[in-house]
Amino acid sequence: MKKLPKIGLLYMDYVLRFFDRSNFRGWPDKIETVVYHWRGDEERFIKEVKRKKIDVLIGNIPATAYETFRKIAKELPNVRFIPSLDSQFANKSKENVTRFCWKYDIPVPKTYIFYDKEEGMEFLRKTTYPKIIKRSYGPSNYGGYYVHKVDSFKEAKELLEKKKYCPIYVQDFVPMEADIRVMLIGHKPVCAFWRRPPEGHWLTNTSQGGSMDYMNVPKGVLDLAVEVSKAANAEYWACDVAVGKDGKYRILECATAFAAFPYIRDWIGQYLMWKLSDGRFPKPNIPIYNWEELGKIDSSLLRTMRYITFGRYTPSFDGEYFLNKQKMDESGAVKKIWELDEAYPMLATEDRDYEEWPSQKWDFTYKCKGFWKQEPPRKESNEEHIFEEPSGAEPVPYTEEETLEFLKDALGKKRAEKILEQMDPLNIAYELDNNPDALLELKGIKDKTLQKLLEKWQEFKKERSEASI
Ligand SMILES: Nc1ncnc2c1ncn2[C@@H]1O[C@H](COP(=O)(O)OP(=O)(O)O)[C@@H](O)[C@H]1O
Ligand SMILES: [Mg+2]
Repeated sequence: MKKLPKIGLLYMDYVLRFFDRSNFRGWPDKIETVVYHWRGDEERFIKEVKRKKIDVLIGNIPATAYETFRKIAKELPNVRFIPSLDSQFANKSKENVTRFCWKYDIPVPKTYIFYDKEEGMEFLRKTTYPKIIKRSYGPSNYGGYYVHKVDSFKEAKELLEKKKYCPIYVQDFVPMEADIRVMLIGHKPVCAFWRRPPEGHWLTNTSQGGSMDYMNVPKGVLDLAVEVSKAANAEYWACDVAVGKDGKYRILECATAFAAFPYIRDWIGQYLMWKLSDGRFPKPNIPIYNWEELGKIDSSLLRTMRYITFGRYTPSFDGEYFLNKQKMDESGAVKKIWELDEAYPMLATEDRDYEEWPSQKWDFTYKCKGFWKQEPPRKESNEEHIFEEPSGAEPVPYTEEETLEFLKDALGKKRAEKILEQMDPLNIAYELDNNPDALLELKGIKDKTLQKLLEKWQEFKKERSEASI
């Protein structure tokens, strides 16, 4: 039998980890991890990947590390990045999302991008309003924080002079009913939900207090999401589709980096194990519209659910879900769920040996030097670019080393090691801050230990914040 490739998980200091080993349950070989410590760490990082003999490096690259990682990937020609750097092109900036959509003729709000200030201002002087101005590049987990509606040239000019965005990224304002987040694995939609703006508001992000629900996502939206996922050749993918008051669908955002419940990350792990094992592992079976059923479960419970599986449809089996459930599409045609499911197959991505979006051609950020005279040149930073977290969770502000030390102090070396075999330190820190009960699933942590750990965690954070003043 062919040897399995060696998997490495790609981590970055300060960035919430999307995967950990538990998402690859059943993989028979050791799964390595490599942590990138940001600027200046490139060479050491490359050496570590080589030393660990990693064949496949899995993980999301945040916006501010994207260009560095295009270089790193070139130095590691025998390492396959999943998702590929090309698939992650849209992670870097809104401009990249737009350019990607333009290339593939994917509908987006009409967008104008200027690297020449005078040209941009000239455009804004003459154009019609309202317009939307966005920061193209940088962390966006605030959801809408860097998105502005302007009603006149005067407003646009004042905004830009204050915010100093480069490029000048402008969109026509599209009146929207709502937007829909779709998550896909192997080009198959596995989760989707509506986000509606609060009464009288135009921002549809839930982080601004709108509502979400999982019911009756139109088939046309799923079809558009599939088209976009295929264009990106992405193993896993999420898009935000705007549903216009004009009835049209447009892509607002798309990326491989997004917030997802652990059970969805398990499915991605299973899909990747299938893809990397030449079929030794089964492809996960995830029926279309499953989210209408799972979405009925309280999100605090969903957050703790793992390894969710479904039975398959067989004509002789009268499973209620598949047989009785029907869907109507925009044209009024009614289909059974199991028929629809066949229309959304989970596919392998293409293995490519060329670069679609080389930086020499597509990285324009050098043009921002001196754009707004006083502005310092942009540097790589550890700010994170993911879609906004649904729960208002914050990125983890601790380093791996700090967290390790804390755990050893709090639990003793032996206990700490046992726990670290099951979960990575930054994920532990994240759970301590956001969802401590999740830690009860680890072997070696019971109620009492968790209580103690939480008390010490508060102390640790207090000391740390005092130390940093
Ligand atoms: N062109 C547009 N017209 C109208 N509303 C928009 C437009 N672009 C964005 N929005 C609204 O602003 C929200 C945030 O914009 P988005 O591009 O998703 O940025 P981010 O989520 O990074 O802040 C969207 O969810 C949508 O509600
Ligand atoms: Mg958004």
